[in-house]
Amino acid sequence: MHILRSRIDEFRAGDEATLSADERARADRFATADLRRRYVAAHAFVRRTLAEHAGVPAAALRFTIGPFGKPALRDFSDLHFNLSHAGDWAICAVSRASPLGIDIEQARPLPEFRDLAARFFSSAEQRTLAALPISKQMRAFFEIWTKKEAYIKATGRGLAQSLQEFSVPLGTDGPVRPDARWLVRALPAPDGYVAALATRY
Ligand SMILES: CC(C)(COP(=O)(O)OP(=O)(O)OC[C@H]1O[C@@H](n2cnc3c(N)ncnc32)[C@H](O)[C@@H]1OP(=O)(O)O)[C@@H](O)C(=O)NCCC(=O)NCCS
Repeated sequence: MHILRSRIDEFRAGDEATLSADERARADRFATADLRRRYVAAHAFVRRTLAEHAGVPAAALRFTIGPFGKPALRDFSDLHFNLSHAGDWAICAVSRASPLGIDIEQARPLPEFRDLAARFFSSAEQRTLAALPISKQMRAFFEIWTKKEAYIKATGRGLAQSLQEFSVPLGTDGPVRPDARWLVRALPAPDGYVAALATRY
């Protein structure tokens, strides 16, 4: 398992040349130059990372998209990967052992975090969160959120999966419930960010 992160607020010479025509067309649809630059930097970063594992040039990699949007490598189906980006950072995990999902979020003050938890967290997660001292709740909210995102990205089903119908552990690595074939864990992240990974046993 390799987990790498990269700043995406800086442009690297040659980044854009590794992207496919589809990726460049998507980049051109962003409303601002800043969003465009971050998209290009994130996708060039994934290509560089995967090129090292696959042993082919970054520009030669071709992707397919799963039924719910999860990208996979067309010619290296045994090489699992996932990308997440937020703010100035992208994070990418690569593994030959297991499908995986990864998520990074900016842990900005989020006054409405309790409303979001009420809407998207399972009853068990909501109870765990409410039992914590108030000063610890927002940090715990981001940990649960990133673990949940990592899981729905690992299965590839994204938001086709109801977020309220499964639970992730807080404060520890552990299985998702009820689908205990999947393990989630918090990852080290830059200051101001929270990240998590989901892999299959
Ligand atoms: C699209 C989704 C899979 C991830 O969205 P996100 O957290 O905004 O974005 P991330 O940066 O973590 O991931 C985006 C990348 O994941 C990949 N991806 C897209 N669809 C995917 C899927 N179904 N499964 C796995 N990975 C996927 C792509 O590489 C994508 O990069 P790109 O958009 O530059 O092509 C989906 O889970 C989503 O929209 N989540 C937000 C839902 C939410 O509000 N949750 C609240 C919880 S409290």
